Amino acid sequence: MTFEQQTAVVVGAARGIGRAVAERLAARGAAVAGYDRDAGALAEAGTAFAKKGLVLECQDVDITDEAAVAAAIERTRAHHSGIHILVNCAGITGKTGIPAHQVEAANFEAVLRINLTGAFLLTKAVVPVMLEQGYGRILHVASISGKDGNAGMLAYSASKAGLIGLVKSAGKDYAETGITINALAPAVILTDMVAAMPAHQVKYMTDKIPMKRTGKLEEAAAMIEWIVSPECSFTTGFCFDLSGGRATY
Ligand SMILES: NC(=O)c1ccc[n+]([C@@H]2O[C@H](COP(=O)([O-])OP(=O)(O)OC[C@H]3O[C@@H](n4cnc5c(N)ncnc54)[C@H](O)[C@@H]3O)[C@@H](O)[C@H]2O)c1
Repeated sequence: MTFEQQTAVVVGAARGIGRAVAERLAARGAAVAGYDRDAGALAEAGTAFAKKGLVLECQDVDITDEAAVAAAIERTRAHHSGIHILVNCAGITGKTGIPAHQVEAANFEAVLRINLTGAFLLTKAVVPVMLEQGYGRILHVASISGKDGNAGMLAYSASKAGLIGLVKSAGKDYAETGITINALAPAVILTDMVAAMPAHQVKYMTDKIPMKRTGKLEEAAAMIEWIVSPECSFTTGFCFDLSGGRATY
């Protein structure tokens, strides 16, 4: 697969799934702009890319800030005369391993602000660019918790369910324009995000996977690569599964 002549924005590119996707798209010829609020880790990713002969254009962006998101998208659009792909991998779990009645409102709102409002702001900013081109691929990384609900992860599960709803709605809005908007629902992929969670919470999630293993970064990147390629042209408003058999719908 080649992404020559395409520009991709990968959000949450400093580490984890976002970094793996950014590297894969860059290796396939895309010009890749990586956004993240962790400027230090993003710069390290940029240096690591350069050692492999790849380019990651780093932008320090907090996706909860509407003006910052709009400015970043405009910078990338102007620099490359367009944006073909947006992959949003930014997300936080917030506090986990606690029942619903112990979730603090501030924690709930912080998780929704990044996982859901941030996704909305990115979509809102990039769609006009894609409408002008008559082409675009948007992929938001949701979670199996958004379909099933994970005990001990109320805010996270609610935010990801909201994200799946966002994608279903927006996908239909632009179904006739050449733009597809989809989501991906991974189960556990070993990244810093998972490493930061309590061991019992990770065990709870991993035990639910019929393949009895966690997913690999390469497996996530490979699936995302296809979803945002021109070949994936008759699917929009959909949530793809990446759960080792956990999802039954
Ligand atoms: N790893 C898993 O098992 C798993 C499972 C299901 C879903 N997901 C989802 O996949 C996505 C990527 O997960 P990951 O494991 O790679 O996470 P990660 O924590 O390794 O990386 C997430 C990145 O997002 C960035 N980020 C967070 N808030 C931001 C903001 N407001 N603005 C800009 N950047 C921000 C972080 O700085 C970080 O670099 C997330 O949305 C996560 O919810 C992950």
